[in-house]
Amino acid sequence: MFCECKWKDNVNFGVLDELKKKADFVEWNKQKRKDYFILFAKLFEQEFKKHSEENNILCVDLKYIEQFFKRMKTKDIKFFRQFFKAYANGFYSDNYPDNGTNNEIIPNLKLKEDHTYRVLRNIVHISKSLNLREEEINLAKAIALFHDIGRFEQLKHYKTFLDRNSESHSEIALRVLNKEGVINRIDEKEREILITAIKFHNVREIPEISDEKTLFFCKLIRDADKIDIFKVWIDYFNHKSVYDPSYGMDLSISQGYSDNIISDIFANKMSPLEKVKTYNDIKLLLLTWIYDINFDASLNLILCRGYIQKIFKILPKNEEMKKVREHINLDTSQC
Ligand SMILES: [Fe+2]
Repeated sequence: MFCECKWKDNVNFGVLDELKKKADFVEWNKQKRKDYFILFAKLFEQEFKKHSEENNILCVDLKYIEQFFKRMKTKDIKFFRQFFKAYANGFYSDNYPDNGTNNEIIPNLKLKEDHTYRVLRNIVHISKSLNLREEEINLAKAIALFHDIGRFEQLKHYKTFLDRNSESHSEIALRVLNKEGVINRIDEKEREILITAIKFHNVREIPEISDEKTLFFCKLIRDADKIDIFKVWIDYFNHKSVYDPSYGMDLSISQGYSDNIISDIFANKMSPLEKVKTYNDIKLLLLTWIYDINFDASLNLILCRGYIQKIFKILPKNEEMKKVREHINLDTSQC
C-alpha cells in the first residue's frame, strides 16, 4: 500500500502519477504484488476524485475525515436504543381513562415495541447476508429502531393503526424524531438516508430515488418490516398473541375474500391495503408481499420460518386456494 500526503487544495493526477513512479522503485515482490494507493489532501479536484473512485484509489480529504469520525458507531446505537425504550415507556404510564381503552391500548403499545426489536434483528440478519460494513449495519439498526416510533402517538390519539383513518405513521415518526432532536448527533448524509428510509417504509411503492445508497436502505427496512408483520398476523390468527394487529381496521369476519387480491397473486404483484375487507383478505394480502421482497435473505427468512405454509393452513380449503398454492409454489429446499 502506497500513500502520499499533500496537505493542500485541488490535488490531482500529478500527485498520483508521482506516487506510482515511486512505487515502481520498490523492488519487494514486484512481479507478484498488487499495488494499492491512498492519497491524503485538504481537497481533491472533482474530476480526479471521480477517476480515483472508479479505479479503486482512496482519496482522503477533510470531508472524508469528518464523515469518518461522525459515522454511526455502536455507542450511537446504544443511545438510540435507550431513547426508544424510554420514549415507548412514557406511553405505558399514560392513562387512557375516559374511554376505558386501557385494555386495548397497552397490549398494542407492546405489540409495536416488540415488533421494533424483531425488525431490528431481521435487518441485522439481512445486512450481514449482504456483507455490509459495521457503520452501514449501525445505520440499518437506527432505521429499524425508529421506523415505527410514530405508532405510539398514532395509537394514543387515533386509537387505530390504520393510516388512512388517522395519518401516516411514518410522517408522525419523522415529526417525533425532529421534535426530540435525537438524530442530530449523526452525520448529515446518514441522517438524510434514515429520514428517507423511514418516510417511504410504508408506502405502496418506493418513489424514484436517484441516490443508490438511500434506495438500498429503503429496500432494507421494507423487507425487515414485512418479515415481522407476517409473524404478527400469523401469531394473531393462531391465537398465540394478546395483541390485535387489526385494531381499528373494522374487518369483516366473513369467510369471504376479495377476488381482486386473488388476481394480484396471479399477476405476481403486491396488493394495496385498500383492497382488504375481511380477515381472509389479510392472509391473502400477506401472500402478495412475496412479490415486493428485495433481497434473497429476506425471502429465505419468510420461507424458512414457514410463514407461507402457515398462511395456507388458515385459509379456506377450496379449488381456488389450491390454484393459488400451485401458483406461488416457492422453493423451500434451502431451508
Ligand atoms: Fe414496522
